[in-house]
Amino acid sequence: MYRRIIRPWLFSLSGEQSHRMAILLLRIIGFVPGGRWLLRKVCAVEHPSLEREVFGVKFRNPIGMAAGFDRNGEVYGELSAMGFGFVEIGSITPRAQSGNPTPRIFSLQRDRAVVQRVGHPNRGLEVALRHLRNGHEGVVVGCNIACNASTPPEEAPADYLRSFRNLYQYADYFTVDLCGDDVQDERITRSEEYIRRVLEPLFDFRRGQNQYRPILVKISPDLSDEEIDRVTDILIATPLDGVVATNGTTSREGLTASPSSIKRIGAGRLCGRPMTERSIRIVKRIHERSGGNYPIIGSGGMMTPDDVEAMLAAGADLVQLQTGYLYEGPQLLKDICNRLIPQPEEPTPAPAVIPAEEQNTTTTEERVD
Ligand SMILES: Cc1cc2nc3c(=O)[nH]c(=O)nc-3n(C[C@H](O)[C@H](O)[C@H](O)COP(=O)(O)O)c2cc1C
Repeated sequence: MYRRIIRPWLFSLSGEQSHRMAILLLRIIGFVPGGRWLLRKVCAVEHPSLEREVFGVKFRNPIGMAAGFDRNGEVYGELSAMGFGFVEIGSITPRAQSGNPTPRIFSLQRDRAVVQRVGHPNRGLEVALRHLRNGHEGVVVGCNIACNASTPPEEAPADYLRSFRNLYQYADYFTVDLCGDDVQDERITRSEEYIRRVLEPLFDFRRGQNQYRPILVKISPDLSDEEIDRVTDILIATPLDGVVATNGTTSREGLTASPSSIKRIGAGRLCGRPMTERSIRIVKRIHERSGGNYPIIGSGGMMTPDDVEAMLAAGADLVQLQTGYLYEGPQLLKDICNRLIPQPEEPTPAPAVIPAEEQNTTTTEERVD
């Protein structure tokens, strides 16, 4: 039904409208008595072998919805009912902001890709808090936090700290988005000094709390190998708990769309199929450099169960997706989870008992040949 009816309808709308419709539809389902129960019955795959414990948090399965879909924490309950093992909400900024001018989401259907330059539109910390205060028992919710676009770089650490402190008791883990606003130069967010200035106040705040909340950083796939190694070294040297690798790329490599249509779309992050290899390669690099000792959430171009298997084999502990879900719908999540459930070994067929006279015949024939 998703591929034949819902997907063509969603793709007939603008990227922005289809996102809004998807959220509205989920909210309506969640509002109807028994709606979530029905979603779970129809969509979710449950099996004890899918369960994971990563950075001290228990997950129903290792597949999560990536940040940018449930920006304000409105539908994490419905997404969980649809079978996601966790939902990363946000990016949340302290103050509401409208993001970049529209149009800002473009689908490239032949390439199974999306280019987005939304620039963290969200209704701000207070609204996210209001939704989270309803409680989310049984649903793992990560809060992805970012700084407001209007905040000068020297004040960015205060933005992150404000969201972190306020959301602390309501989130299961935090992701610090270090990727900028989807169009601006990321240089500033890549420097070790900047990353440490953002993270140190969060570590200090956490030290004074009774409960422990894991902190991860989300990185861009456009970092050089040396920059990736530098982030990995920060992971090893500080109380950082893990890395989300990666966000979408500003590169246009791997697209078959014509240069003129790529040019027409303009700036933004490319997500989906063209970045599968790149994100897996980065996860492998971080995994190897950190000796496999630190949690990694693999994200970027997870379009099939094979992609997810390759990402997990590269060293990811958990996986997130968004563009793949847009293209394939709930069936993708089902297929991935079913693939991850170990199949009972096929019984090895008992050796055929060949009657003695037949054995003789065969031997004779062989000899004749
Ligand atoms: C429309 C859209 C909005 C996004 N917004 C955010 C965001 O606010 N914060 C963030 O960290 N990542 C954001 N992302 C990036 C995704 O979380 C994910 O890392 C990226 O899309 C790669 O995964 P995918 O290929 O499965 O889509 C966004 C992606 C899309 C497509």
